[in-house]
Amino acid sequence: MEFFIDTADVAEIREAQSMGVLDGVTTNPSLVAKTGRPFREVLEEICSIVDGPISAEVVATDADGMVAEGGRLAAIHPNITVKLPLTVDGIKACKALAGRGIKTNLTLCFSANQALLAAKAGATFVSPFVGRLDDIGQDGMALINDIVTIYRNYGYATKVLVASIRHPEHVHAAALMGAHVATIPFAVIRKLAAHPLTDKGLAAFLADWQGTGETI
Ligand code: G3P
Repeated sequence: MEFFIDTADVAEIREAQSMGVLDGVTTNPSLVAKTGRPFREVLEEICSIVDGPISAEVVATDADGMVAEGGRLAAIHPNITVKLPLTVDGIKACKALAGRGIKTNLTLCFSANQALLAAKAGATFVSPFVGRLDDIGQDGMALINDIVTIYRNYGYATKVLVASIRHPEHVHAAALMGAHVATIPFAVIRKLAAHPLTDKGLAAFLADWQGTGETI
C-alpha cells in the first residue's frame, strides 16, 4: 500500500519524509491557502522533498480551463499529478490530459458511479473522501469497498486513493480492502505508530536494562 501525506505544509512533509515511508503528497486549494505561500513555490519545494506523485489541483470549473491549468501545473515537474474535480467537465479534462500523458487525480469522489467514470476517462487516481461521508452519517469505507470491487471486476488501472482520512482505523480498513493508496494527514501518520502497550513495554525493557548496568 502506498502512503501519501495530505498537506501543503512543507515542515510536515519533511518530517514525514524522514520516516522513510512516504510515497507521494496530495494538496488541495484549501491546504495551499492555509500555508499563505505562492502555489508554484510550494509545489516546487514539495517536489524537491518527495520523489513521488504530487497532486496539485486546478481551480477552473470548465474543461478547457482545467486542461489549460493542468498543462501549466504538469509543466512544473514530472511528478505533478493534476487534481480535477469529479464533475462532467473534470471527466472531459481528465480524458484530454490523460491523452497527453499527464497524470490525473479525480477528487471530491462521493459515489461508485463517479469512480467508474474516472476509470473510464483514464484517471491515474480517484480520491473518494471517506471522512466527509462519515460526517454526514454515511459509511465512507463502504464506498472504498465498492470502488475496489468494481475496479477489480473490470481490471481498471486507476488507483483508489483513500482521502479525507480522519483516524488510523480508516487506514487499517483501507489496507484490508486492498485500496492502493491512503493519503493521510500528518497527525494521523504519527498515530499509526502509536500503541500504549508499545510505550509500556518499552518503559519496562529500559528499566530492566538499566538494572544490568550494561551498555551496547
Ligand atoms: O485532500 C483531500 C482530502 O483528503 C480532504 O480531507 O479532511 O478536508 O475532508 P478533509
